[in-house]
Amino acid sequence: MHTMHTKMRKAPSGLIAVLRINKDWRLFARNVEEMDVKYWNEVAENYDHEIFDVLAHDKSSLISDRIKNFASETGTASDMGCGPGKFLPILSERFRHVYAYDISEKCLEQARDNCVGLANIDYVMADLSKKKIRMPKVDFVLCVNSIIMRSMVKRFRYLRAISDHLNPEGHMILVVPSFESAIFSKIRRIESHMRRGVGYGAAVMAVWRANSRQKASHLQQGIINIDNVPTKHYLKEELFATLRDFGFEILEVMKIEYGWETEFSDPPHWLKEPFPWDWLVTAQKVGPV
Ligand SMILES: C[S@@+](CC[C@H](N)C(=O)[O-])C[C@H]1O[C@@H](n2cnc3c(N)ncnc32)[C@H](O)[C@@H]1O
Repeated sequence: MHTMHTKMRKAPSGLIAVLRINKDWRLFARNVEEMDVKYWNEVAENYDHEIFDVLAHDKSSLISDRIKNFASETGTASDMGCGPGKFLPILSERFRHVYAYDISEKCLEQARDNCVGLANIDYVMADLSKKKIRMPKVDFVLCVNSIIMRSMVKRFRYLRAISDHLNPEGHMILVVPSFESAIFSKIRRIESHMRRGVGYGAAVMAVWRANSRQKASHLQQGIINIDNVPTKHYLKEELFATLRDFGFEILEVMKIEYGWETEFSDPPHWLKEPFPWDWLVTAQKVGPV
């Protein structure tokens, strides 16, 4: 049987995760969920169960190593959409001062609790997708799987806030879900059905139906439902074009690879590399746009 929506599935390509079985009633109230402040406060109640832990799954320490490259005893940093603050200890140790932003007061409470004793962090509740956010400028921004809301307007405001908030020549590390990876994963899933004897047409339909609330109008924008939550995924070329428009030069785009168990509850033995991935972007602010 198809296992796409088993409760153990943790987030395609390192993303938002799953386990909404106890909250299914909400699906009747709304067709799909919005990633608004209410959503994130609810997720915070059971954060580690619901949200894929990018830091823990970044086995080659790609993100930490890059943060260390930009470390500065006199510099300042912001973690945009910090969640419960997994990356804050690394930032706190490497920068003079750190700002931890999040839309969710519940996530920020957890971040505070998780970082007791780290005196150089300011916690700020803010919706970074709002117009005209005023924040102190910093030398470095980290933003991991936070600009994933379905509204392009909101995503662009968020990017604008980051760009306006970085000092000239400041650096950003951005992690986002990969559209290529999500589609690749679906192709592998179809193949997995067929290898178990399911006919081609039935295999295609099984994978499509498993995501039955997926809107085609979303798909054309790179928005894929993860357990009924429309989630923005990015193409590599899209990252180049979009970030350039917000005054960034991309220095590097890499894959953060995860095991197939992040996509399949019981990955078949033949399923090897290439593995599912998120995009890890290192960019520098080159000028006002
Ligand atoms: C998937 S979690 C990632 C948390 C953290 N960056 C990590 O990787 O461990 C996304 C975070 O972004 C925050 N977020 C989403 N939309 C936001 C917005 N408009 N402004 C500020 N934070 C936002 C959420 O509250 C959530 O904590």
